[in-house]
Amino acid sequence: MQQAWLEMNTPQCGYCQSGQIMSAVALLATNAAPDDAAIDAAMAGNICRCGTYPRVRRAIHRAAELFREQDALPAAGTAAVEATP
Ligand code: FES
Repeated sequence: MQQAWLEMNTPQCGYCQSGQIMSAVALLATNAAPDDAAIDAAMAGNICRCGTYPRVRRAIHRAAELFREQDALPAAGTAAVEATP
């Protein structure tokens, strides 16, 4: 996930990014290939005052691709998933 975030130059100020990443991990634990609508629905509770939403979406698509390539999708029930509201 961090690699994808870096590749897409996702953060701006960084304030919201830990929550964005936690929600993204939770999404990929249940959906290995989310479309834009699924991403938007999963990330809806994360507010970013810097407006990084398009970059967050691209980073999630890239992370899903990387996880699939490495056959290493996050498992449901991990700490990241459990911490997501
Ligand atoms: S990156 Fe600044 S609030 Fe999201």
